[in-house]
Order: sequence, then structure tokens, then C-alpha cells
Amino acid sequence: MITLNFANLMEEVIGKNGLTEREIEDFKPEAQKAFQQLIQRKWKELDFLDLPEQDTLKIKEIARQTVDDSEYFLLLGIGGSALGPRAILEALSPLHNLRRTPRVFIYDNVDPRTIDAILEIIDLKKTTVNVITKSGSTAETVASFMILWEQMQKLYGEEAFKRFIATTDPEKGNLREIVRRYGMSSLEIPPGVGGRYSVLSPVGLLLAEVIGVDSKELLLGARDMRQRCMEEDLWKNPALLLASALYKFGQAGRTIDVIIPYADGLKSFSEWFCQLWSESLGKLGLGLTPYPSVGTTDQHSQLQLWMEGPEDKVVLFIRVEDYGVDRKIPIVFEDMDGLNYLSGHSLSELIKAEEESSELALAKAGRPNARITVPSVDAYHLGQLFMFFEIVTAFTGFMLGINPFNQPGVEEGKHFTYGMMGKKGFEERRKEVEASRERKICWTL
Ligand code: PA5
Repeated sequence: MITLNFANLMEEVIGKNGLTEREIEDFKPEAQKAFQQLIQRKWKELDFLDLPEQDTLKIKEIARQTVDDSEYFLLLGIGGSALGPRAILEALSPLHNLRRTPRVFIYDNVDPRTIDAILEIIDLKKTTVNVITKSGSTAETVASFMILWEQMQKLYGEEAFKRFIATTDPEKGNLREIVRRYGMSSLEIPPGVGGRYSVLSPVGLLLAEVIGVDSKELLLGARDMRQRCMEEDLWKNPALLLASALYKFGQAGRTIDVIIPYADGLKSFSEWFCQLWSESLGKLGLGLTPYPSVGTTDQHSQLQLWMEGPEDKVVLFIRVEDYGVDRKIPIVFEDMDGLNYLSGHSLSELIKAEEESSELALAKAGRPNARITVPSVDAYHLGQLFMFFEIVTAFTGFMLGINPFNQPGVEEGKHFTYGMMGKKGFEERRKEVEASRERKICWTL
């Protein structure tokens, strides 16, 4: 089970910048309110909590067929429809494409250079395309889907649909309509599960199975973590405690939350967390800013700022207990004191020492930080991490008094794009864009 150590958030350990037990006690009624919203399922979007119980039979079947007949797996999606799958891929199958098939490409942008490069590498005859969009209308995803559809049609004519798997809403949207029209293979994202909370739905699970990961393990981990976070007592509930602490630090001006896993494979996990935290909490002038990072690499790039820069951050370390493999640092250059102190130690000893040292250095400087320990980077514990942070996010949103499940700001941008690209019903948005271009002309150098 992953654990949370919050000693370095406390005044007793880091001095005046920390929280006192009293302050946390006093916050209990507010934390309780947030807890009750979750327990009583006050929001339909809390359906992500039920994902551990889903039936994975169809996902496994589609994945088996994909592995049998594909050398390439191309995932088209953006935001919640891509960041979760990428976090799974990189955590559970590092350097996947250099070691295993099907080779996986996640195209989550509309940069023409990237799709050009992908199309140069993959053989479409041996490719399965998984198009993921809950709404079925996100411009980036549908544009890349249309490109792939045409390419496949050139090869397969009316049979093109057989090379696609659609992951989308069970009833609504353009993609569901196309599934009905062509009888395309498809998986369902439950209606009550929002994009950034969907990693443990078929959105992430199909890719997991395709790369050889048992999706059941991810779900088991998530189920156990959910159980752990259902504890009413704040002092026994790690998600409620962390949410309360980050909320309180935010109120005191520490509005930036750095996440720093000490594992290359979890770098994409921090990007997944960033979307979850930003899109869920940033609204109505409120919110907390996530800051993705990876240890030890960013100790040599960012740590200076966290140590001595503005007092506006809380650092969340993710420590890995067992890396599964290790490598001894050999006894070479024995006469050189600058090097020989490392000999006989292992890389995992070094990375853990680095992590602990950073925690300590920050604590000594009075900078709040906490440690989440992951026993190992496997499907079971990754499932726990996903569920843990989703619950922390929901709690924090409830504490802030905002809706952590919508993204009105993102929708606004989407509507301008629709206007510019000529979508029916968005003519007014197009006019707004044109007016804004006029205004900009005289300010251009
Ligand atoms: O969290 C969200 O809902 C968003 O980030 C979506 O995942 C993103 O906009 C993509 O949406 P869709 O899956 O509908 O294409």
C-alpha cells in the first residue's frame, strides 16, 4: 500500500511555516463536509470511484485481437484521453517501442510534423488505431481521426473501419454515431466519468492490456486505495489529510504544488497529475498550480528555486521503495576520493539518498514537503496512485467550494477554434476572433 508521510508539513518539524496539529483539528469540520460530498455521492461525476468494479472482459478480448494482428498501436486523443494512457505506458513499459511490439504511438496534438513522422514509421496495414474522445467532438482528435480514416480507406476501402477501435460515450457524440454507422469496434467511457478521471476506464485499460499489463491489477490497486480513503477520521485518511493540508497551505499563499517522483517512468504520471489538478481546481479565480518534475533530474534544474525562491510552494515527493532491478556502482578508480565513496553502493541507494536529502534540505529551510512512498512501480501500485490523487483532487475541489469536474475555460477556447474552423453555430465566435486580430495589428512589431 502506498503511504503518506507528512512530518515535513508540520510546524513541529519545519518551524513556523508548518501546520500545527491544532490547526488540522480545527479544520476537521470543513474536511468532513468535503468527505461527506464524496461519500454521499453528491456529484454524478464521482462515478470514477466505481471503475474498480468494471467488467474487463471486452477490453481484454479487443486487446488480444489487437496484439494478434498489429505491429503498431496508434492512440488518438488529447487531455484526459491521452495523458492517462501515456502515464501507464511509461510507468509500466519503459522504452516500450525499443523493446516490444505492438509499438505504441500516442498522438495528442495536431502538430503536422509529428503525424508526418508517425506515418513515416508505421505500416498502416499492421496498425490498429484507437481513437479516444468522450465527447466525440474535440477538434484535435476528430481531425487526426479523419486523416487516419482517409488513409485507411485508401488501403482497405469499405473495410477501413476494421482497423479502428473507438473509445467514447456509450450513447452520445459523433464518434458513437460513426460506430453505429459502420459497426466499428468500440469501448464505452461511463457517462459519469469525466476525461481527466477516466484513466482507469477503457481509456487507459485497453492500452494497458495491449502492452501486456493485466488491467485487473490496476483496478485492484485502485479498489484498495479507495477503501483506504473512505476512512472518516482525517488523521487516518491519507487523501483527506493531504487535501486539507494543501488547501490550508494554499490559503496561506503556498499555491504551487510541485510533484516530484523519483522514477523516470513516473514522469508522465506527474503530467497526468498536472492536468487533473489544473483543470479540476483552477476556476472562479481560485485554484492551486501544479508543477511537474522528476527526481533526481530536476534537483539539478529546479531545486534551487524551491529552496530559496518565493515561499509559494509545497513539494510532494514520490519515493519508490523497490525498483525491481538494481545496479551496483563498481569498485573502480579506487585512489580517487571524489569517486570511490560511491563504490559498493547501488543506484537505488543513491536515488533514495538523493530524495531523502532533498526532503531534509527543504525541511531545514522551513519549506513544507511531504513524501508519498510507493512500494514499487507496478500496475497494482500505479492503480493506487491514480485513485489516490483523483480522490485528493475531488476533496480539494470541494474544500475550495468549486466544481472539480467541469472545465468551462477549456470549452471557451474550443468554441473560438470551432468559429475559426467554420463549424456551424459558432459564427459569432469567428467574428470575435476577427475583431481581436484587428485590435492586435497596431501592437505588432
Ligand atoms: O478532463 C477533461 O474532460 C478534458 O481534459 C478532456 O479529457 C479533453 O478535453 C478531451 O476531451 P474528449 O475526450 O471529449 O475528446
